[in-house]
Amino acid sequence: MTAPQTRILTGDTPTGNLHIGHWVGSVQRRVELQDKHECFFLIANLHAFTTRADDPAAIRSDCIEIARDSMAMGVDPAKAAIFLQTEVPAILELTYLFAMLLPYNRVMRNPTLKDELKVKDLKDNYSFGFPLYTVGQCADILTFRAHAVPVGEDQVPHLELTREVARRFNKMYCGVPDKAPDEEHESLGGVFPIPVADVGKVGRLIGTDGVNKMSKSLGNAIHITDTPKKVKKKIGRIYTGQDSRDPNDPGEVDPAKNPLFQYLETFVTDESVIDDVRTRYAAGDNIGDGEVKMLVADAINELLDPMRERREQWASDDDVMDVLLEGSRKANALCEETLTMAKDAAKLRFFPRTIELGG
Ligand code: TRP
Repeated sequence: MTAPQTRILTGDTPTGNLHIGHWVGSVQRRVELQDKHECFFLIANLHAFTTRADDPAAIRSDCIEIARDSMAMGVDPAKAAIFLQTEVPAILELTYLFAMLLPYNRVMRNPTLKDELKVKDLKDNYSFGFPLYTVGQCADILTFRAHAVPVGEDQVPHLELTREVARRFNKMYCGVPDKAPDEEHESLGGVFPIPVADVGKVGRLIGTDGVNKMSKSLGNAIHITDTPKKVKKKIGRIYTGQDSRDPNDPGEVDPAKNPLFQYLETFVTDESVIDDVRTRYAAGDNIGDGEVKMLVADAINELLDPMRERREQWASDDDVMDVLLEGSRKANALCEETLTMAKDAAKLRFFPRTIELGG
């Protein structure tokens, strides 16, 4: 799908240290993409204020942690720009403008937004900024004139909204004809390419509770900061009491019922080891979960070992800040250009300007 000139943007709301669910669901893909494409990885620190406006110090330190953990997991700042949303003013300016191009009810219909409001049980007590973040996410993407956005399934509605805004803008202000195909918007003079969602094939990793997706807030995560001993302990505690064997084919284990099997298939790299476990299950052997747990814990520790080492190399906050400064500068160089184009198109530009970070 991704052509060579594809520009990639994706990002995270900082919530704390990264865990192996992040690796499986997103970071692994980013590490692949950074070798082939121009990549921008956003830390959406303003989005974190949707739910944690009362805890700015924690959000700030989470920004440093997420940058450090991403680099520990293999994101290379020499290849990809890692940057802070709030250091790129063009994003915030376009958010305001895009908010004018979207019907209020269209924003509120977004299923991911509705879901979040429900899950967080916010009823009518959410801020004006909560739904606004979805418009902000359109700007996160479009300010980079990104072509592809690697995300999980849950983010697809945001991408739909983004595509709608881009189409509307290009038609309203850039003379792109009404029926223009998405792929031709840019060549027809539109400021914004219509970005596609690059939805990962890998589903969400189940947490160590065996029920919910892995998430820091649910306390069911294995973090990159966990010691080898802690990883063993967490894997050891996974509940595998229910019989997860498919009665028609005992070699097939429903991983939804036993996270251990999802972990086995995700983290054990030696296919023959996986096959061996399957064969013994199929033969009705009394293969103990303890044995499989050992295999899984060792495999996860093997994955984490080089990450732990790289994390040590990024131990200094100052070094991480340097990366963020460099990444934010790179982001601004591109985004100021987009903003100029967009403001010209919408007759909003009166004077030239330059932005300089870091003094
Ligand atoms: N909303 C995304 C999440 O919670 C984070 C995000 C913010 C993002 N801006 C983005 C993802 C732009 C992709 C593109 O995971």
